[in-house]
Amino acid sequence: METNVLKVIFITVTAIFIFVFVWCSYIKIMSKICNCKTVLSGKIVIVTGANTGIGFETAKDLAKRDAKVILACRDMNKGLEAEKIIKTETGNTNVHFKQLDLASFLSVARFAEDIIRTQPFINILINNAGMGKLDNSLTEDNIPIEVQVNHYGPFLLTLLLLPLIKRHPDSRIVNVSSIMHYIGKVDPDNFHKKVKTSLQHRRLYSDTKLANMLFTLKLNELLHGSYVTVNCLHPGAVYTDIFRHQPYIMKLIFRLLMKSSWQGAQTVIHLAIAPNLANTSGKYFVECKEKEPAKRALDMDVANRLWLTSEKIVETYLPADKSY
Ligand SMILES: NC(=O)c1ccc[n+]([C@@H]2O[C@H](COP(=O)([O-])OP(=O)(O)OC[C@H]3O[C@@H](n4cnc5c(N)ncnc54)[C@H](OP(=O)(O)O)[C@@H]3O)[C@@H](O)[C@H]2O)c1
Repeated sequence: METNVLKVIFITVTAIFIFVFVWCSYIKIMSKICNCKTVLSGKIVIVTGANTGIGFETAKDLAKRDAKVILACRDMNKGLEAEKIIKTETGNTNVHFKQLDLASFLSVARFAEDIIRTQPFINILINNAGMGKLDNSLTEDNIPIEVQVNHYGPFLLTLLLLPLIKRHPDSRIVNVSSIMHYIGKVDPDNFHKKVKTSLQHRRLYSDTKLANMLFTLKLNELLHGSYVTVNCLHPGAVYTDIFRHQPYIMKLIFRLLMKSSWQGAQTVIHLAIAPNLANTSGKYFVECKEKEPAKRALDMDVANRLWLTSEKIVETYLPADKSY
């Protein structure tokens, strides 16, 4: 009897493993590629978290298309190394690392100040940087680090750069969210507070990815009539440094099953340059195609409240008249 139970368990586990393996391999093989031939000469692009993973591949692709690319990275050595590699591999010398730590409002404000002082306009802003961290620490601004890096930091950065982005018609903002937003929940009044339980902490990444969706929803409303578009996306399951905290064996399995960073960058690139998306805004994309997001991502009431509470949290760094 016991042997039979063990047999059933063994067969079930093997079947699940084979199913997951086949499904992931299918997704990996079928992943869509952005085939747009768009050339970006004369355009200025900012990619956050451009030193590795999806951000690096996105920045490299846009550099190949002759854009001026600003690599906004927190670590100077990694940023300069990425700049060097992209320049060498693309032949584009107009690629520049600038330091940006999204976990610090002061750093975001300094970065934006530098950009406003040195750049005439921004055509494409890609809010790619993100983290899924296991430790539950607070930033110097007293906010859970994952929430500040994934939501409040990009929120402040976008608002500060908005006047520059609006300076050129047809500019684009791309927010890298995740399919994990489906299981996220955002309570705008408490989003900035330290979470109390480990379960809440484990869910935090999904919550921040839902916040990316709600930010896109509200920003799209505010941009109405400005010719600037904002869209968000899920890049797929992509093997990158974001899994750096996972055990070795998990990393090995992820590497086998997941997309490469180059594949993961394709929907980001598509939203940034596809000519047929010039008038598309406020949408969610997966595999270079528009998709219906979770119902919670379309909740305008929560999006409004999140916007107002986020403005309050970063208000020291915003213009007093909110002229963005
Ligand atoms: N990989 C996936 O399967 C997947 C799935 C869905 C969504 N996404 C999203 O895709 C985006 C890119 O992730 P990835 O997979 O390419 O991960 P990654 O390889 O870990 O890259 C994340 C980037 O964000 C940067 N970053 C982290 N904290 C930062 C901070 N405080 N200030 C500035 N930059 C910071 C990292 O810099 P350092 O190298 O210095 O840490 C790195 O450049 C994220 O928004 C993520 O949520 C990824």
